[in-house]
Amino acid sequence: MIVGLGIDVVHVSRLEHWQSVPGLLERFFHPEELAAARSRGKGCILSLAARFAAKEAFGKAVGTGLYGMGLKEIRVENDRNGKPEMILYGRAKAVFEERGGRRILLSLTHEHDSAIAVAIIEGA
Ligand SMILES: CC(C)(COP(=O)(O)OP(=O)(O)OC[C@H]1O[C@@H](n2cnc3c(N)ncnc32)[C@H](O)[C@@H]1OP(=O)(O)O)[C@@H](O)C(=O)NCCC(=O)NCCS
Repeated sequence: MIVGLGIDVVHVSRLEHWQSVPGLLERFFHPEELAAARSRGKGCILSLAARFAAKEAFGKAVGTGLYGMGLKEIRVENDRNGKPEMILYGRAKAVFEERGGRRILLSLTHEHDSAIAVAIIEGA
């Protein structure tokens, strides 16, 4: 059963600004997300924009937004085929479980200066 759905779009210009503020990306992204994105070279910023959209899509899917959660508690990684998966920690995981969440389905896309994410939360 689907218990939550969220969608978000992020423009790359927002990430470009954050990149210029020391320590900001480290506050918003899990170290492994940053390392994976940086390994993509020119694709780094689009990759991070998509991951930020995924965090906001998750906030909408749980219905509370991201308030009270650490952004690093919501981490996106790709499986061996490139499919994105969401891994939760701390307060984000607790809110997800309180909502009856068992599994998250995530889809990302990015082109030119925009990235979009859709998150679906499945319950029992
Ligand atoms: C829920 C949240 C993710 C919305 O993101 P946003 O970028 O401000 O808003 P968007 O333009 O993408 O989406 C707006 C829509 O989200 C929906 N929305 C708002 N609150 C929502 C909630 N609690 N649950 C689900 N959907 C929600 C509404 O439909 C809204 O549109 P409407 O007011 O016209 O109906 C936001 O409230 C949030 O949690 N922000 C935290 C961001 C943050 O921590 N940033 C740190 C770096 S600056």
